[in-house]
Amino acid sequence: MLRYYRKLRRQGKLLSLRMTEGAVFLRRFVEFPRQVGSVMPSSRYLTRAVMDKIDWEKTRCLAELGAGTGVFTRSILRNLRKSGEALVFEIDPMLKRMIEDEHSGLNVHGDARELPKILLERGIPELDCVVSSLPFAVLPPRMTASILDAVCKCLKPGGKMVAYQYSRHMKPYFEKRFANVKTSFVLRNVPPAFVYECVKGA
Ligand SMILES: C[S@@+](CC[C@H](N)C(=O)[O-])C[C@H]1O[C@@H](n2cnc3c(N)ncnc32)[C@H](O)[C@@H]1O
Repeated sequence: MLRYYRKLRRQGKLLSLRMTEGAVFLRRFVEFPRQVGSVMPSSRYLTRAVMDKIDWEKTRCLAELGAGTGVFTRSILRNLRKSGEALVFEIDPMLKRMIEDEHSGLNVHGDARELPKILLERGIPELDCVVSSLPFAVLPPRMTASILDAVCKCLKPGGKMVAYQYSRHMKPYFEKRFANVKTSFVLRNVPPAFVYECVKGA
């Protein structure tokens, strides 16, 4: 499947590429439902809703958690200033390879729990923003808690996490950790999603 995907990319066949991307995603969901958390990549409406919550003028360093097939990664790399830096995390080795293939020079990291370690290794003091697609509500609770702790530790005061979820389950957990949590809803996605804008206290 990955070889076929690479061939389509080389040939520039965009429609077939997106269909294959959907098929790869579905296959990973069937194999690892609780890790992937949804049956298809985010729609362009959800992508836009998430990207619109970010102040790109002020964002220098951003982490993306749970990149999947890279629908958000494309927009992030397009929006980020030339001097900006994106740290992309995807735990599934096949999806990780797909994103690295698409964006030459981009080194995709694995488990989002390693966020503080990667920041330290790269000499980055703090993050302006985190974009999360992680299915927090269905991940093992200890993994969810440890990722949220890592995000809070790495964000600058006043920094923001933008995360989408398919239910309201995580809202109290976000409210416990962040000074301000705003919710919006995107209907045009499968399934429809809640977008959480979580701002760390000063
Ligand atoms: C719902 S998918 C989102 C994919 C993509 N960002 C999108 O919006 O279409 C969640 C992704 O998170 C990844 N994931 C789950 N646990 C993770 C972890 N601990 N660290 C990094 N990625 C993880 C899954 O492999 C999956 O690709």
